[in-house]
Amino acid sequence: MVDIAPGGQVGIAQIGVTGLAVMGRNLARNFARNGFTVAVHNRSWEKTASLVAEHGDEGTFVPSESVADFVASLERPRKVVVMVKAGAATDAVIDELVPFLEEGDIVVDAGNAHFPDTVRRENALRAKGLHFVGSGVSGGEEGALLGPSIMPGGTRESYESLGPILEKIAAKVDGVPCCTYVGPDGAGHFVKMVHNGIEYADMQLIAEAYDLLKQGLGASASEIGQIFAEWNTGDLESFLIEITADVLQHVDAATGSAFVDIVLDQAEQKGTGRWTVQNGLDLGVPITGIAEATFARALSGGVPQREAARGVLPAATTPWEITDRDAFVEDVRLALYASKVVAYSQGFDQIAAASQQFGWDIDRGAMARIWRGGCIIRARFLNRITEAYERAPQLPLLLADEYFAGAVGNGVAAWRRIVAGAALHGVPTPAFSSSLAYYDGVRAERLPAALIQAQRDFFGAHTYRRTDRDGSFHTLWSGDRTEQDA
Ligand code: 6PG
Repeated sequence: MVDIAPGGQVGIAQIGVTGLAVMGRNLARNFARNGFTVAVHNRSWEKTASLVAEHGDEGTFVPSESVADFVASLERPRKVVVMVKAGAATDAVIDELVPFLEEGDIVVDAGNAHFPDTVRRENALRAKGLHFVGSGVSGGEEGALLGPSIMPGGTRESYESLGPILEKIAAKVDGVPCCTYVGPDGAGHFVKMVHNGIEYADMQLIAEAYDLLKQGLGASASEIGQIFAEWNTGDLESFLIEITADVLQHVDAATGSAFVDIVLDQAEQKGTGRWTVQNGLDLGVPITGIAEATFARALSGGVPQREAARGVLPAATTPWEITDRDAFVEDVRLALYASKVVAYSQGFDQIAAASQQFGWDIDRGAMARIWRGGCIIRARFLNRITEAYERAPQLPLLLADEYFAGAVGNGVAAWRRIVAGAALHGVPTPAFSSSLAYYDGVRAERLPAALIQAQRDFFGAHTYRRTDRDGSFHTLWSGDRTEQDA
């Protein structure tokens, strides 16, 4: 390895990256490969030195050992990207940086921070005359290197100088960068959180489709992988469908079995899906697809409960006899597409609700546009979402957009056959089923919520409104049952 010494140059780097684990390292390389002079720093010098030794030929790196030198090596206004583990480490790095920064400098947190933390940090740095940009970055290690989807929040002013740099390193779709200004303070990290929630829903729906094909057809992992590969040539085309086809056709070298068959069936999570569900509850937005996906991971990991239930809870099912294989595969595809539209529609509702609550003014069409490339949920149909919000920027329900209402409507009979079949044959499909229930709920002329209101009034005098006149009312349930104005 070449010996690397800290540079000591002053004011020459256009952007800096501190935190050089895989994501930070790849982001720094991406900046350098795109022609930017990049200041690099890490808590331990070895990582900085090895980055420059191994990739110094990809562009211009300015390595520093101390925070003071790192900050000094940046041109003003300084732009420092912090890429460390979300949580306490982020606060520690910010605290180290701030004494060396000057008014107008920009600190970018590119980790998966929880948006209330971003709001807090933005407030604190604004009070010191600094810009704090909480930015979602999606696409994993490869995305960071080759072009991620970037969701920066913070002030518009900071985006003026930072935006062009981020847009240059972002993924491009039809020449359009997958990066745009999202909104003030926590907006960027909020949108990234919802992205991850949708990612959970998407993954769960794909897993349910796989299980349906496995149990319905008795197909092997590799046969199902081929079905997914075929689906990836149509409306479902997306990164997650593509990698599913690949994973299902992968064979475990040690056993010769299908790889998926030797993986323990307990899904883990780092917490962004949980945050999305918690926030959905706070905002009162029914993000049932994301919630079911998050709970399905929890159920899979509930080992004592699964052991207690296995062999004890009767199934009362009959074997699933599919006579027309192709028709069944098409039904699953249509049900998957419809459920997926529901999950996205709910996620975009959540963004709208937060945008209103926090005054963020988020353009949902632009969010769909920057998710078309680079990120984990990149998909062909995101173009359709952008078009829907272009047609009607204030669209109250994506599902009801003319294109999606038609596309989902075409598959609704298939969706019902699949959910009914899964229930009859004991295949757990929480996300498929709850998405269909949401679809039927949101389109219903009248809901049994009326009965719930009546019950609440009965036991707690919680009052109700009437269909035939304005006002709130209470019935004297334990008295003469006359109605009073409340
Ligand atoms: C991305 C991903 C990424 C996330 C992983 C793992 O957009 O690049 O969302 O940020 O950390 O997907 O998430 P879980 O461990 O919670 O599944």
